[in-house]
Amino acid sequence: MSDVDELKTGALAAVTAASDVRALEAVRVAVLGKSGTLTQLLKELGKTAPEERRARGAALNAVKDLVATALEARRVVLEAEELAARLMAERMDVSLPPPPDAFGTIHPISRTMEEMAAIFGAMGFAVAEGPDIETDWHNFSALNIPAHHPARDDHDTFYLPGTAGAPSRVLRTHTSPVQIRTMLGQEPPIRVIVPGRTFRSDHDATHSPMFHQCEALVIEQGITLAHLKGCVIDFLRAYFGIGNLPVRFRASYFPFTEPSMEIDIGWNRRTGELGAGGDWLEILGSGMVHPKVLANVGLDPRVWQGFAFGMGVERVTMLKYGMPDLRPFFDSDIRWLKHYGFSALAPYMAHEGVSA
Ligand code: PHE
Repeated sequence: MSDVDELKTGALAAVTAASDVRALEAVRVAVLGKSGTLTQLLKELGKTAPEERRARGAALNAVKDLVATALEARRVVLEAEELAARLMAERMDVSLPPPPDAFGTIHPISRTMEEMAAIFGAMGFAVAEGPDIETDWHNFSALNIPAHHPARDDHDTFYLPGTAGAPSRVLRTHTSPVQIRTMLGQEPPIRVIVPGRTFRSDHDATHSPMFHQCEALVIEQGITLAHLKGCVIDFLRAYFGIGNLPVRFRASYFPFTEPSMEIDIGWNRRTGELGAGGDWLEILGSGMVHPKVLANVGLDPRVWQGFAFGMGVERVTMLKYGMPDLRPFFDSDIRWLKHYGFSALAPYMAHEGVSA
């Protein structure tokens, strides 16, 4: 057998023996590739004696075509086999239940504000909102905090650059300006809560420059301090789920309420446990709406009375769930959010867990 015949027989056998597309490609490279056996013989054709060259060249080219055709035919067969095998292996069982989706969670701040809306909603409160960027007047002056009043220093205010002729603006330092907006915008009786963002230039483990408050405002006829106390006690006991949570009212000062009270709940300072332990924790500012504030929005203080209170949403959330640090609330760390977040499928039930 000539070397050309031998090469032909060997190459065709290798093509038939190739059991998958990769093996077939290896055969192609070994025979027809740049340094393949047949390519090599074609390159060496020049060294052949001139009288043999024509015949040998024709024979080599014929083998080349033959092998190329065989390769192509085998490729079609192997590809069809591989596709059939894949279709069998990847067959889908449509009767299987779907894999669980990766659900997100409700942020604890959102959850707490939903709880507040639910608890106060049951007491007849609507939710009111106001802008994050406030006029100096709404945030301070209308609330009986005039310019240069020392109470302004308590707020570490972010002042926005002024524009000539326009009222000066701040990032609201509390949700109380929405008291003003609500009283200007609707006739009493008024019962609203105001959950929302607030801003103060302060940053450490317990203070963030952006945080949340929830305000409450009631304006009706014949409203007294007793209503304020009952409302706050009911709310705190429902929110913390502790039916006999001790609540203490302590005289205090806010320019926009008179009298004013700070409100404490009972807890154990050492263990952090709420409800018992003999220690007190300040949690809310409150008071009867100041007659000057009522007058500032055009209400006659001899006819209308009311109360207001405000609290930090992060603070009550941290207390309820035993969270030690405020900063991760705003870090967007997926591990923290998974751990402390709430299932969207488990809606809050007002008064759940109240024990007495
Ligand atoms: N706005 C007060 C604060 O941010 C809280 C407060 C609200 C006090 C309503 C009394 C009445 O500290």
